[in-house]
Amino acid sequence: MSSNIKVGFLQTQPEFGAVEENLSQAKKLWGERKSDLLVLPELFNTGYQFQSLAEARNLSEPIPDGPTTRFLMDWARDAGMAIVAGLAERDGKTLYNSAVIVGPKGFIGKFRKAHIFDSENNFFQPGDLPFTVFDAGFAKIGIMICFDWRFPETARTLALQGADIIAHPSNLVLPDCPQAMITRCLENRVYAVTSDRVGTEKRAPGEALKFIGQSQVVDPDGTVLIRASEDREEAHVVEIDLAKARNKRINSRNDLFADRREDLYRIDGKG
Ligand code: ACM
Repeated sequence: MSSNIKVGFLQTQPEFGAVEENLSQAKKLWGERKSDLLVLPELFNTGYQFQSLAEARNLSEPIPDGPTTRFLMDWARDAGMAIVAGLAERDGKTLYNSAVIVGPKGFIGKFRKAHIFDSENNFFQPGDLPFTVFDAGFAKIGIMICFDWRFPETARTLALQGADIIAHPSNLVLPDCPQAMITRCLENRVYAVTSDRVGTEKRAPGEALKFIGQSQVVDPDGTVLIRASEDREEAHVVEIDLAKARNKRINSRNDLFADRREDLYRIDGKG
C-alpha cells in the first residue's frame, strides 16, 4: 500500500480580535485544495498580542465546545481532511495557548503549549497535558506549538512516541526557527509542518511584534520541501512519503533510535 499522503499549511495574517473574519479568510485562502492534513498558525482565529487578561479571556474558547473548534470540525468533515490549528483555550478560569486536531469524523484531541514565550506568560498557563501522538488514520501526528521548537526534548518525545509528522502551529518572532526545524527533523527522522503567520502587531506600548512567515514543510532528511515568503499570505500542499519517517535507519550499521544510549544520557541534569 502506498504511504504517500498530502500535507498542507496556511500562512495567514489575522486581524486582531476579528474571529469570524479570520475563520472565513482562512477557509477562503485554502479554497478547494485537496490534502490529508492542513496545519494552521498558532492563535490563528484571534491574533497574538492580547492587551489584558480580560481581553484574552473574552477571546478564548472552551475546547471542543467552542465556535472555532466547531468551525474546524465542519471544515474537516466537508473537506475530508485532518486540521491542526492553534487557539486560546479557556478551561474554567485558566487559559492555555492550545491547538486542536480534528478530522472528518470530528474532534481527535488537543495540546497545550508547554513552553510559554515571553509576554504570553501574562495570559497563559504552561501546558499540563503530556506530549501526545494522535492517530489521524492516515498518519500519526504529534503537535507542538511555536516556541516549543526551542526545546529539542519536545520533538524527540513526539518522535519516540511514533510521530510520522509534527504539526507545528506558530507565530514566530525569533529568526532561528525555520533553520532549527531542519535539525529537529534530521535528528528525529520525522516530517514537520510549521504554519506561521505574517504581519506586525503593535498592540502593546513599545512592543511591536513582526512575525517572520517562512512556513515550511521539512522531510526526515532535513530537506525543505516548501518554504513560504516572509511577508505574504500563502497556501501550499506537498506530497510526502510516510515510509521515510518510519525508517529510522541511517545506514546498514546505524539506527537513529536503536543506537540511542539511554544508559549514558542524563537529561535531568543530575549527572
Ligand atoms: C511564540 O512562541 N509565539 C514566539
